[in-house]
Amino acid sequence: MASPSSLRRSTFLAEFIKAPFRVGAVAPSGKHLAQAMVSGIDPGRDMVVVEYGPGTGAFTDAIMPRLTERHRYFAVELTPAFAQILRERFPGRNFYDGSVADIEKFCREEGIPDRDSIDLVISGLPWASFPEPLQRSILDPLLRVLKPGGQLVTFGYHIGKMMRDGRRFYRMLPEYFQTVHQSKLILRNIPPAWVFTCTKKK
Ligand SMILES: C[S@@+](CC[C@H](N)C(=O)[O-])C[C@H]1O[C@@H](n2cnc3c(N)ncnc32)[C@H](O)[C@@H]1O
Repeated sequence: MASPSSLRRSTFLAEFIKAPFRVGAVAPSGKHLAQAMVSGIDPGRDMVVVEYGPGTGAFTDAIMPRLTERHRYFAVELTPAFAQILRERFPGRNFYDGSVADIEKFCREEGIPDRDSIDLVISGLPWASFPEPLQRSILDPLLRVLKPGGQLVTFGYHIGKMMRDGRRFYRMLPEYFQTVHQSKLILRNIPPAWVFTCTKKK
């Protein structure tokens, strides 16, 4: 019988075949990238942490053990089959069906203000396969809901930086954020990836 993780991989691949630009990868991210993505969750600080595009939970698996009673967490996922998998895997957590372009609405549903209320966004979104209007329709509200000094942590592949939409996205980031830090290339991910930590002006 197939293991739960191989079933998740098959669902991931099936959804990629249906909607390659939305899913943006043929397989979930690996553990080394996931650990680098979640290092901003500070156990000593009250934080609102929101995951964008969790897929089948590659980063969620690394987020969950770091969460304490000082943290609020919720996620927004556009592919209904993935959101359903996550609700079954992590009962008691909120995985909203929909687009992160509507993050302000999801903040209100969570009962938190739709301005300056999120400390950390951990994003699995495939930015390099999004056209500019979609990139901006996600970044504009993201900047409004982030607290001053709040952070977006996202990742990119080498190939993504070579694609036109990817190149434009990385050039756009300093327009939105006061600082953008690019990690060393994480080679132990297929494909290798960088983590970008983008901080909103205080
Ligand atoms: C590259 S996959 C990443 C999944 C997972 N975080 C990982 O790293 O394995 C991108 C995910 O973003 C989701 N997604 C794409 N556009 C979205 C949007 N506008 N709002 C929310 N999720 C979105 C896709 O459905 C998919 O699950």
